[in-house]
Amino acid sequence: MMKVNRNEKPMRVAGANLQVAVKGLLVNYTDLGPEDAELLLFVHGFPFNASMWQDQLDTFQQDYRVIACDVRGHGQSAPDTEPFSIPLFVNDLLGFMDTLKLDRAVLCGLSMGGYIAQHAVAASPSRFHALVLCDTTCSADSPQARENRLKTVEELEKDGTAAYAEASLTRLFAANSLRTKTAIVENIRKTILETSVQTLTQTLLALANRQDTCQALPNIRIPVLILVGEEDAITSPAAAHLMQQNIPGSQLQVIPDAGHLSNLENPGEFNAQLRSFLSRVFSQPLSN
Ligand code: MLT
Repeated sequence: MMKVNRNEKPMRVAGANLQVAVKGLLVNYTDLGPEDAELLLFVHGFPFNASMWQDQLDTFQQDYRVIACDVRGHGQSAPDTEPFSIPLFVNDLLGFMDTLKLDRAVLCGLSMGGYIAQHAVAASPSRFHALVLCDTTCSADSPQARENRLKTVEELEKDGTAAYAEASLTRLFAANSLRTKTAIVENIRKTILETSVQTLTQTLLALANRQDTCQALPNIRIPVLILVGEEDAITSPAAAHLMQQNIPGSQLQVIPDAGHLSNLENPGEFNAQLRSFLSRVFSQPLSN
């Protein structure tokens, strides 16, 4: 009779738009690149989904295993019934890593993905080789920002998503991107319009209630790259500088010709910065 080794990794299924049950929650993800390569794990911003990383998945799958997953309620991941919160999203992410038996990753999060990534690294530092924080902040919402989110929740419940999508686009993109990168802008408009009102409102509440992570940044002991669009109007270059000053040894690169969605607006520069960071990370002996 054949012996079964229960510690064996599950057979990897590679491809786009795969589904896995994580403690009962159906999570949608894309998993590409060589199985034995170093792993890059991408977490998207709000209200987007894993497809916002398509350019990075295409570019980095030659040399790395690349995984991007849809946060609960976004894209094709199920919403389930619990009220959303950043700690819940962090549990989902760590549970996803457990389920796929992903030992250690470079974690790359944009905006909300960066909030999730900061908490994930604080909760489970040994699971990450390095951290890439894109267009994000360590600060919680100001009272005014919180109030605006609560007002947006009311408007979404009353009027639906069309006006919300329109207003979001002008804040998300640099003025030049809005004028000239129309395919990218239209794709993001479509993504917002396809997100359910329930996910939008629940996530807005999760963002409004999130904790400040600035105090925890000095404890980060892994290499950190911070990227920010030069014209990011949501999480500004000043917020990126604050994180850089508080994370020992971290590097900050400002991405020109980009607003809040720097990986989409200037993928050439974004990918070049990420590539050079990764080659530095993996050229040094890795800590255990
Ligand atoms: C995002 O891109 O994830 C959002 O802009 C985050 C936020 O509104 O705080």
